[in-house]
Amino acid sequence: MVAEEIANALGCDTEEIIDTKSRSGILGWIRSGRDAGNKSLTVLEDPVNDPADYDLLVIGTPTWGGHVSTPVRTYISQKQAYFNNVAFFCTAGGDKFAGVFMDMTDLAGTSPMGTLGVSGKDIKSGNYQSKVQDFVKEIQM
Ligand SMILES: Cc1cc2nc3c(=O)[nH]c(=O)nc-3n(C[C@H](O)[C@H](O)[C@H](O)COP(=O)(O)O)c2cc1C
Repeated sequence: MVAEEIANALGCDTEEIIDTKSRSGILGWIRSGRDAGNKSLTVLEDPVNDPADYDLLVIGTPTWGGHVSTPVRTYISQKQAYFNNVAFFCTAGGDKFAGVFMDMTDLAGTSPMGTLGVSGKDIKSGNYQSKVQDFVKEIQM
């Protein structure tokens, strides 16, 4: 939902990062937390778009155990050589985002033009929409 809101505001293409590993159910949840904590990589479906074709890539992830999610860690690790400018957003049940943005910056090897953290509270209150608008203004080139 946050990705779509950003894409609508920017009028940009979107790419869904799709994991081949099943993450459903309680076992999937436990495995996912463990994978994120271990900084493991996974096998992704082939992305449709080439990041090198874009001046700016806005990459989003949920927080998993305080870390960037495993599929997004994998995407950044595999594609970072093709990035031009980047910006990051992160969703979380709580409101701690700094560790995730540090992970993403290290993996991408470049500082983001902007970051956006969206908490569960922001979603419930609808406050995420104004946060998205501010983020989009910050990153527009
Ligand atoms: C494996 C797993 C670990 C999570 N760990 C955290 C966490 O440490 N802190 C937090 O605020 N939210 C945590 N969450 C909540 C997700 O960040 C939240 O569900 C997500 O941002 C919403 O995106 P989604 O709709 O793709 O799940 C976790 C969710 C999963 C599935």
